[in-house]
Amino acid sequence: MIGADMNTYKIAVLPGDGIGPEVMEQALRVLDAAERKFSFRTERTVCYVGGAAIDHCGKALPEETLRVCESADAILFGSVGGPKWDALPPDERPERGALLPLRKHFNLYANLRPGICLPELVEASPIKNSIIPNGFDILCVRELTGGMYFGEPKFYGERNGETLALDTLVYKKSEVERIAHVAFAAARGRRGKLCSVDKANVLLSSVMWREVMDAIAPQYPDVELTHMYVDNAAMQLVRNPGQFDVMVTENTFGDILTDEMAIVCGSLGMLPSASLCRNGSSTFGLYEPSGGSAPDIAGKGIANPIAQILSMAMLLRYSCRETAAANAVEEAVRRVIAAGYRTGDLCSGSTGEIPVGTTAMGDAIIAALEQPHLF
Ligand code: IPM
Ligand code: MG
Repeated sequence: MIGADMNTYKIAVLPGDGIGPEVMEQALRVLDAAERKFSFRTERTVCYVGGAAIDHCGKALPEETLRVCESADAILFGSVGGPKWDALPPDERPERGALLPLRKHFNLYANLRPGICLPELVEASPIKNSIIPNGFDILCVRELTGGMYFGEPKFYGERNGETLALDTLVYKKSEVERIAHVAFAAARGRRGKLCSVDKANVLLSSVMWREVMDAIAPQYPDVELTHMYVDNAAMQLVRNPGQFDVMVTENTFGDILTDEMAIVCGSLGMLPSASLCRNGSSTFGLYEPSGGSAPDIAGKGIANPIAQILSMAMLLRYSCRETAAANAVEEAVRRVIAAGYRTGDLCSGSTGEIPVGTTAMGDAIIAALEQPHLF
């Protein structure tokens, strides 16, 4: 039987809220086309997560969803949250109630956030054209399961007659070592430059962070390691983003810097992300767009599906090792942008732009994947 020996991957599909379902639909259509072209298969199970799960099952991360994720090779995640659920207690809200437990449960310690500004989209960036004439390509490696997000003790209450709130920024050396290896390996596969971002002039956790980076550097003689304080890094990302190749940083710094990186790229609608746990030779991951659920434009058919499509490509690359398919999807996106196709977030009013909605962008990417010579 044809296809009986095809590689098959189990994917948990969690579209979530807001624009999640509509951009997910396009990512799955592109995935269908990639499967046809590169002869592999995926078995997909769609589950509720976030606000949609609160509405249907009473909580942001239902047991059933977790069970499906546990038996999958990877999770393709849409986005969660929206005004409807904002009044809930913080721990029950879609973002904290679903994303953070998923990260912790699956030990997704390595968050890869590529920040690519394509030359054709320089106009969409708030950074002056003269600073980034050819766009830029940064990869931020954010530690995702340590630091203040999860550090104990956490406390909010009364102590000695005063209201007091406490978060703990704690790292184990082993946690810094494993993220260091992810970052050095990524730099080795790119332009060989790694910038470690910390606050070692103030924080002891950063002093250790820096020492660990320096100690591991000799294992990667082909990578040039530099250090930068986080306040300076925030400034340099605006002043000259092109100076960075790979950045590596702790959880909270990474949260802030990646939002900044995203906006200097032009549009959140272009940026994918991968949250990974390496186990020997296999890589489990949760793949999601960097942007949020964008409730203001949800359901209008105008959202940019590219971040979701590129997240799916990262899933193919890291969890399925379908490198040729991942490359082809990324190449199809580049061709479609070069050909002028633009969702609203990317339009700059230049001549040659072809304004399209969510589905038409999906159609164009599928066409470019199937018939690259036409683009
Ligand atoms: C992100 C988000 C999350 C984070 C929120 C939604 C918990 O901002 O993925 O960057 O802070 O990590
Ligand atoms: Mg964030």
